Amino acid sequence: MTQDLTAQARELRALLRRYAHRYYVLDDPEVPDAEYDRLYQQLEALEAAHPELVVPDSPTQRVIGAVLEGLTPVRHAVPMLSIKTETDTTPAGAAKFDLGVRNALKLPADAPPLAYAVELKFDGLAINLRYEQGELVQAATRGDGETGEDVTHTIRTIGAIPNYLKRVSAPVLEVRGEVFMRRDDFEALNERQRAAGAKTFVNPRNAAAGVVRQLDAGIARQRPLSFFAYGLGEVQGWDMPATHSATLDALAALGIPVNEDRAVAQGAEGLAAFHARIAAARDSLPFDIDGVVYKVDDLALQRQLGFKSREPRWAVAHKYPAQEQMTRLLGIEIQVGRTGRLTPVAKLEPVFVGGTTVSNATLHNLFEIRRKRVRVGDRVIVRRAGDVIPEVVGVVPEPRTGYVPNFRMPRHCPVCGSDVVRERGGMDHRCSGGLFCPAQRKQALLHFASRRAMDIEGLGDKLVEQLVDGGAIRTLPDLYKLGLSTLAALDRMAEKSAANLVAALEHSKSTTLPRFLFALGIRHVGESTAKELARHFGGLDAVMDASEEALLEVDDVGPVVAQSIHTFFQQPHNREVVEQLRAAGVHWEEGEPAPRAVLPLAGKTFVITGTLPTLSREEAKERLEAAGAKVAGSVSKKTSYVVAGEAAGSKLDKAQELGIEVLDEAGMLDLLRQI
Ligand code: IVH
Repeated sequence: MTQDLTAQARELRALLRRYAHRYYVLDDPEVPDAEYDRLYQQLEALEAAHPELVVPDSPTQRVIGAVLEGLTPVRHAVPMLSIKTETDTTPAGAAKFDLGVRNALKLPADAPPLAYAVELKFDGLAINLRYEQGELVQAATRGDGETGEDVTHTIRTIGAIPNYLKRVSAPVLEVRGEVFMRRDDFEALNERQRAAGAKTFVNPRNAAAGVVRQLDAGIARQRPLSFFAYGLGEVQGWDMPATHSATLDALAALGIPVNEDRAVAQGAEGLAAFHARIAAARDSLPFDIDGVVYKVDDLALQRQLGFKSREPRWAVAHKYPAQEQMTRLLGIEIQVGRTGRLTPVAKLEPVFVGGTTVSNATLHNLFEIRRKRVRVGDRVIVRRAGDVIPEVVGVVPEPRTGYVPNFRMPRHCPVCGSDVVRERGGMDHRCSGGLFCPAQRKQALLHFASRRAMDIEGLGDKLVEQLVDGGAIRTLPDLYKLGLSTLAALDRMAEKSAANLVAALEHSKSTTLPRFLFALGIRHVGESTAKELARHFGGLDAVMDASEEALLEVDDVGPVVAQSIHTFFQQPHNREVVEQLRAAGVHWEEGEPAPRAVLPLAGKTFVITGTLPTLSREEAKERLEAAGAKVAGSVSKKTSYVVAGEAAGSKLDKAQELGIEVLDEAGMLDLLRQI
């Protein structure tokens, strides 16, 4: 054996140890998981080809992790192991696992397909919940698999984890599962951190790990976590079902959160079909997953298969393309948004991440760039998960070869040349050009035309680009002056699409006051504020003439929003825009002023879940809102009623758990009739 290979193995071990320490102990990874996996596989391959290179403390031989100072070590009654990863993201990966299991069980080639429990692989951290006599007595992290950390104090802040199990008093029942942070909770947390100029988290997994391993439960309470169970630890005095899938059903019946996207699949084909189904749904899931997990369903067969070097032979994690990758930052450009906000956008060496090739990613704002110490030429980590815009989440430290100046925000708008201003204490830089700035004008038009605003079908960004750059449109009302001849003369515009657009413009004139108010693009006025304004004041003139004090009376309107609305309508050019739009024929039905406090369902919050028999969810929402109710997306103690239809899932469970009244559609309609 050459000296080279020994040195290579040593280097790989050292790198993997360092990266694992940053990931598991400090919750502050230095490289993306995909890079760690790549190096790990390199070491595995090297050790397989040269077994004499294997040392007992190689990262391939042990579970890495250590107890953080300040937390109490907990020795696991049953070790917490990890599972093998299949990185071939094609159906071949599933077939390979199935074949391995069948061979290990010595099944003849013509034996029927095996049944597998198939689940999501949640991207969070493993937790052991110990229930004694049905009461939660301890929660611990995995640590090195033998010894974890006592995190009972932070786990108790997770509302979905019951302190008492329903109908069970087994002396010991340890439930294992994953603690994670939903994407929306993660985005909101990072948004708050950014606004406060505080450290943002790289990804939800990291944020979750950081929260769980907090010494201070008060901080944990402000950073919501979620949990799903996927298995058991020590069990005494509880009748185990015969299969893994039935075990999860039993846990769900005890009140433990178990994810509903699971199934029992038959053979390699069933595994591959589940992998494909979840791949298609991955972006729309409310949380990150990095793969799916296949487990032999029959527990007797699991026991027969046993373990190989600390990993079960009966389970595998079948991965998806990584949501984080490394690439190089080639430059930073400035994008100007609808409200004039300047966003630094990273120009990247194209990289395949989260299933698509990404070459642009947001850097959020100047202060984020400074805090992350990002400079052009650096190796950076890019994250693309779900429908969220790709972002640069960090830099991979490496020596810079030459001097690179620090990034600065331009003093003048790169699009219109107006002064760039920053509000006192704020994190954002803005172009002061308003609708004089073509970039803001284009965004304002796109917003005006968007589906939830005036809903002008066919008015996309390419078209707006041409219309603004060519001078055909300067203000919003110009839109309604567009004739067939102007449109048909545009690039790549067929006569038919021009006619369709003219029809769409005409159609959009008949609208509602909330839509119109939202379409104007007043800062801080989103869809729900627009609805509140319309309801409260009844008509547009009353909104336009309202004082700041009067605006503060509106539900959900605080001083910042009131000031923004008031200022907007004080500008003569904005009033002119409104008048011209009305003159062009934009109209809606005005109503009577109806401050929320006098409406019958004022102060009541509803959550709608599942498919209702006759109404769409949007229709049900509109009816409830018209009666003064609020309609929220998630169930909490503040929810007054849950309206549940067909295939209602976890929200219904949560309502039952919290003892909230559940209505079906007929019950909801009755309630509306009675008031
Ligand atoms: S089963 C002995 N099922 O992935 C088998 N793990 O390396 C124990 N994970 O440490 C794990 N989702 O943190 C299992 N549905 C799932 C999972 C899952 C996520 C995590 C878990 C574990 C790691 C596997």
